[in-house]
Order: sequence, then structure tokens, then C-alpha cells
Amino acid sequence: MSNNLLTVAYIAASILFILSLGGLSNPETARRGNLYGIAGMVVALGATALSPQVTGYGVLAVSVIPAIWIGGLIATRAAMTSMPQLVGLLNGFGGLAAVLVGYASYLNPDASLVGIDFTIHKVEVFVGVFIGSITFIGSLIACGKLQGIVSSKAVLLPGRHLLNIGMLAAVIGLGYYYMTVGEAAGLLPLGIMTAIASMLGITLVIAIGGADMPVVISILNSYSGWGAAAAGFMLNNDLLIITGALVGSSGLILSYIMCQAMNRSFANVLLGGFGNTNYQGSTTTEGEATPVSVEETVDLLKDAASVVIVPGYGMAVAQAQHAVAEITQLLRDRGTQVRFGIHPVAGRLPGHMNVLLAEANVPYDIVLEMDEINDDFPSTDVVLVIGANDTVNPSALEDPNSPMAGMPVLEVWKSQAVVVLKRSLSAGYAGVANPLFYKENTSMLFGDARANVTAILSQLTQSSTASKSQEAVLATSR
Ligand code: TAP
Repeated sequence: MSNNLLTVAYIAASILFILSLGGLSNPETARRGNLYGIAGMVVALGATALSPQVTGYGVLAVSVIPAIWIGGLIATRAAMTSMPQLVGLLNGFGGLAAVLVGYASYLNPDASLVGIDFTIHKVEVFVGVFIGSITFIGSLIACGKLQGIVSSKAVLLPGRHLLNIGMLAAVIGLGYYYMTVGEAAGLLPLGIMTAIASMLGITLVIAIGGADMPVVISILNSYSGWGAAAAGFMLNNDLLIITGALVGSSGLILSYIMCQAMNRSFANVLLGGFGNTNYQGSTTTEGEATPVSVEETVDLLKDAASVVIVPGYGMAVAQAQHAVAEITQLLRDRGTQVRFGIHPVAGRLPGHMNVLLAEANVPYDIVLEMDEINDDFPSTDVVLVIGANDTVNPSALEDPNSPMAGMPVLEVWKSQAVVVLKRSLSAGYAGVANPLFYKENTSMLFGDARANVTAILSQLTQSSTASKSQEAVLATSR
């Protein structure tokens, strides 16, 4: 393939990636967005493989074919609830790739690079390996935390800020040394810097706990993009630079949106150690929770003119979305207004709930964002909270000492009646006790969300069949 054709293919792939990001911004166009992304990657891979620089097809086949097979296998087998870990792991691979490209291009530099070009190339290698190492090790720790292999609590080392600043200073000093020593001697500072950056990846991520993990994954995703962009500069590959910048900037924007949703600043997330599960809240034992039965819940639903369903991580674990969708349909058929309230960080990855509800064919127009539904709770008859906890915790607004203080939440307690479907009174992902369970207008429907939702569905179905046959009898007797 000629260089001109290669450029055209790279431009086409870049446009497809931009269209892909545009499509992914909305559940209705997300499928199309994914297809654009796949097409862009096929064009990028094909064009790179056919470019004049690539000659060793054996090596390419040995690395790319098993990688496609393993990637496909992992992605198809991963449960929806373990997607964040998978995303974390894939971010890490992006970082590792930047490290490997950095070392490869340091050991085998382009002979045409001389003078200032060679100096710039050395900087690119150093920066790329630095970002890549933090991303790789940080992502492994984040993945371990989400998988439960590493404790999800914030591990706050004494003097950690000083330690981090010290490591950063050492990296800058090593960078200066690396730039000034001869070519071969530069490998030693590069190696020491890689070890320090890996340590930084550990200390930065273990200090972050509980509810801040989604933002961390998204920031690491952004880092992996910047690492790829750095690799693009090292390899003089425009497509890698563009793709890396797209991933880097979209990851940053997503992190910003998530920080806003949790009322956090970037600096706070990275340095604060939020989500320390030692906190139990001042309202843990205030009042008593009121248990409710399936029958009583069904009666509440039948009498309600407006219902809001607030799903959370527990609905995903229980895989209750299909039964929830059927209940929605039944209630709507009865003339009840049913809507969904989605918190931006409900579940374990951005858009988690939207994907599950779309999979169960819940119409998009009744699935509302937190800001769209919050004002409507006072005029709502019944709220069903299905496996959600942190995202409906009033302590965020009512308890200034809560670690969640200031985080916007779905204000479900303002409705006439709330029924919470979960197995116990235990805390959610952030480890913060939830006073919602003890409010006067809240009832707890204990048990597995799927079992309870299925029981509600079957009773609602029975009662609507009974009322239909009653109507039929009345109609024939007239
Ligand atoms: P959580 O606060 O994690 O609460 C989920 C609740 O579901 C748990 O308290 C659990 O209570 C219940 N549950 C689990 N399995 C269940 C089952 N089979 N049936 C019924 N209930 C079940 O969920 P949330 O309200 O969606 O909040 C999300 C949290 O995760 C936030 O803190 C957020 O920051 C964090 N997070 C979010 C993301 C993103 S980006 N969305 C990523 C990582 C972490 P029981 O054990 O009592 O049943």
C-alpha cells in the first residue's frame, strides 16, 4: 500500500472513531456507534498491516491472531457486572503497550532522527513510559479492587502525599539525568523511572476507596489514551496520535462529568481517600426499618397513579431487568404513569442501568436522568428502589459529616411511599449507612431482587387477568 493510500485509510479510520464516540453518547445510537468503532479499527489494522513499514507478517500473525481470539473470548464471556474490571484491565494493556513501544523505540531508534528531533524523541520515550507504567500498574490495582482481590477500602499510607511528591521529584531528576547522559547509559534512569512510576501507580490507586473507583477507572482510561498518543509520537504514527488523543480527552470529559455527579473535584478524588468504609454514619440505628410483603407492595402499586423505579447495582446482580420491564408494561397498561430514575453512577460503570433497561426493551423516553426526575418525587405516589443504595442515600444531603456529603442523589424519600428491594440493611458500595431505610414512608422488601420482582409480576398478572375476566363477565351479563 502506498503512503498516500495509507494516509487516506488513516483519515477514514479517524473519522469512523469520531463518529463512534458521537454514537456512543446516546443509548439509541450506541449500537451504530459501536459498529463505526469496529469498522474504524478494522480499517486501521488492515491499513497498518499493509503499510510499507510492515514486512514481518509471521510475527504480526503470531501476535495479532491469538490476541483477537483471546479478546473476543474474554469480552463475550465477561458478565455485565464485571465490565468495569474488564475495562480497567484493558486500560492497563494500553499502558503496557506504551511502555513496550517506548523501550523498543529507545533500543532501536529511527536512524534518521538527529539533533533536536532525536532530543524530542527521547522526551517522548520518557513521557510515554512514565504514563504507561502508572496506567498499567494503577489499572491492575483498580481491577483488583473492583474484583475484590484487593481491598476496596482506601489504604491511606502515613505521609503518602510526601511520598508521592518525593517519587515525582525523583522522576524529574531521573528525567534530567536521562536526557544528559549518552545513549546506552540512558537505559538505567529509564528503568529506575519505570519502577518508580509503577510504585506511583500503586500508591495513587490504593489510596482511593469505594465510591470514587468509577472516576479512577475513567481517569486511567484517559491516561491510557495519552500513553497511546505518546506511542504515536514515538512511532511517528498520526492515527495512533489521533486515537490516543480521542481516548485521552473523552476519558477526561467522562471523569469530569462523573466528578460533577458525585460533587467531587479531580484533585479530591486522586488525593482524598474518599470511600473509607470505616464510617458508619450517625443515623445507623435511628428508628426501625419497616418490612413489607410482596402482597402489600402489589397493593401499593395497584393504587398508585405515578410510580418511579430507581434501579441500582443489585438489579444488575439479580438480573431482574426483564421482570422489571414486564411490571412496567403491566402498570402502564393499567394507566399508571411509570418512569425510571437513573443516577449517573448507578451500578458499576457509566450507563450500566441504561444498557440493562435497553436490553429488556424498556422505552427510552421513560428512562430519565437524575436531574430530570428529582423535582418530580414530591408528586410521585410510589418509588420502587431496586438494588440501589448509595445513589438514594439522604445522608449525602442531610449529614454534613457523611463522606458522601454534597453528592447529588435521587431524592426518593420525598415521594409518598418508598419500597426498597434488597436483601438486608447493609451499606452499599461506598460503605456508608443509609438512613433512607429507617424513614417513616420507607418499607423494606427483603430478599433477592429477581425473586421479589418476579413475585410482584406474577401477582400483578393474576390480578389484571382476574379483572379482565370480571370485565368480560360483566359485559356478557349486560
Ligand atoms: P450500591 O450502593 O452498590 O448498592 C447496591 C445494593 O444492591 C447493595 O446494597 C445490596 O444490598 C443490593 N443487592 C446486591 N445484590 C442484590 C440482589 N441479588 N438482590 C437485591 N439486592 C441486591 O449500588 P448503587 O446505588 O447502584 O450505587 C452505585 C455505587 O457503586 C456508587 O457508590 C458508585 O460510586 C459505585 N460505583 C459506580 C460505578 C459506576 S461508574 N456506575 C463504578 C464502580 C463503583 P444487599 O446486600 O442488602 O442486598
